[in-house]
Amino acid sequence: MLDVRDIPLKEFVDSRHKALDDDLAALRHSNEEEGVPLILAETEEILGILLSLTSPKRILEIGTAHGYSSLYFARKLPEAHITTIDRNPAMIEIAECEFASRKEGERIDFRIGDAMQILNGLIEELEDADESQKYDFVFIDAAKSHYKEFFEAAEKICTRGALIVCDNILLKGWIVEAEGKAAHRHRTSIKYMKKFLDYIRSRDDLETAILTGGDGLAIIRFKEQ
Ligand SMILES: C[S@@+](CC[C@H](N)C(=O)[O-])C[C@H]1O[C@@H](n2cnc3c(N)ncnc32)[C@H](O)[C@@H]1O
Repeated sequence: MLDVRDIPLKEFVDSRHKALDDDLAALRHSNEEEGVPLILAETEEILGILLSLTSPKRILEIGTAHGYSSLYFARKLPEAHITTIDRNPAMIEIAECEFASRKEGERIDFRIGDAMQILNGLIEELEDADESQKYDFVFIDAAKSHYKEFFEAAEKICTRGALIVCDNILLKGWIVEAEGKAAHRHRTSIKYMKKFLDYIRSRDDLETAILTGGDGLAIIRFKEQ
């Protein structure tokens, strides 16, 4: 089975990754040692450039895990406010500790629960909000079969200039594996991820880049009217 993380080129790139600081380097190392899901180093570097270019003020993240990427966003952008969502009790407990033990945690609004429920709550909260209260950067990194629903909810609460980045669109390579046990095991994610990629391509109001970097990223913005 193709696994994007096994390709030597990816390892070569990852081995030259430069962490933002020692604390994040240690956090990445411990997450990797414990097998906690987190953004790949290459993904972090692509996100880093996008954040530097766009300087978002309000970031929405769907999928917190132990909080690595939330802390990365908060440290990369010292003025930004981050809302991050997770529902897994094991992840939540650790992420809360990681946020509480760092000053950046004060800028992280951790919403606990199922992403769609939280997103629907945010849609209500922001119903009469002006552009300055909406999200100008969205990072989707949770249940891989639900990206379309996450995207459609997120677009209701983000600015017209927002960038929406979706991680893991290659599903570790399974997206191109038509047969075999892995393909069968991941058939639901494969089916819905393909539908999602077709969906974003089908929308004339979106400009989309689909990249193979990391585990595959879709970078989406709304075209100017
Ligand atoms: C890949 S991890 C996130 C990694 C994190 N962004 C990082 O790089 O440090 C995905 C997380 O999404 C959460 N998740 C998956 N489906 C979810 C859902 N429907 N609602 C809320 N959280 C969800 C999982 O519990 C898991 O912690």
